Amino acid sequence: MGKKKLIRFKANKEFDRLFEPAALDLIEQDHELKGKWCEQFFNNDNELLLELGCGRGEYTIGLARLNPDKNYIGVDIKGSRLFFGATTIKEEQLNNAGLVRSQIELLPNIFAQEVSEIWITFPDPFPGRIRRRLTAPNFLNRYRKILREDGNICLKTDDADLYEFTLDLARKNHLEVLDHTNDLYASPIKDKMAPIQTLYEERFIAAGKKICFLRFRLDRDVTPLKPKIKDLASLS
Ligand SMILES: C[S@@+](CC[C@H](N)C(=O)[O-])C[C@H]1O[C@@H](n2cnc3c(N)ncnc32)[C@H](O)[C@@H]1O
Repeated sequence: MGKKKLIRFKANKEFDRLFEPAALDLIEQDHELKGKWCEQFFNNDNELLLELGCGRGEYTIGLARLNPDKNYIGVDIKGSRLFFGATTIKEEQLNNAGLVRSQIELLPNIFAQEVSEIWITFPDPFPGRIRRRLTAPNFLNRYRKILREDGNICLKTDDADLYEFTLDLARKNHLEVLDHTNDLYASPIKDKMAPIQTLYEERFIAAGKKICFLRFRLDRDVTPLKPKIKDLASLS
């Protein structure tokens, strides 16, 4: 491991708004703040929103700056990326933001049904490995366990296949689609979005890619779709 990464991992232990629960501990016992994040960490009863696969946490931090009356937590497994977000949160004393270093698979061990919206920003599209996608049914059904009854999922991606896959999944499972566009910056939907671009979004826009956006209500369990021929390889 590189020296810079080691320095960041060490620094991460000192941030009081970055949590690094060990996976084995979470499997044995749920996180101590599960169901109590707002009351005991943020010390308020405001809404709680999550960003999954938050990387350096640009979206989490951007939203926290814009909406001081809401609480935001970014989740990612990569400590070296979270370091940047944790540094900004500390420097700006953003008391409505926090970060959790964990596998997204373990979210139900960390949160109870206390989350009002989940943002998934530029996830790895995993072509041919649909079960690993952060919008695959096995992931959505985990999110159901932590979302409030009227909770939403928001997806921002440059990957048209991932966008179509998720839109199809939502429609065929009769989930209410609230917003969708395969070209955000040519759509009026952009006017009601926060003007925040993550590191990956900036890169994709610079490369001339279109940004897709989808928001849907997740109020029932999701069943997988019949796989498309091109995706069958991922199931073998
Ligand atoms: C392509 S990056 C996008 C980062 C950031 N959202 C952005 O837009 O700049 C995807 C991120 O998702 C994280 N990730 C992917 N699968 C994950 C999982 N199962 N659990 C936790 N983090 C995950 C990766 O570590 C990575 O930081």
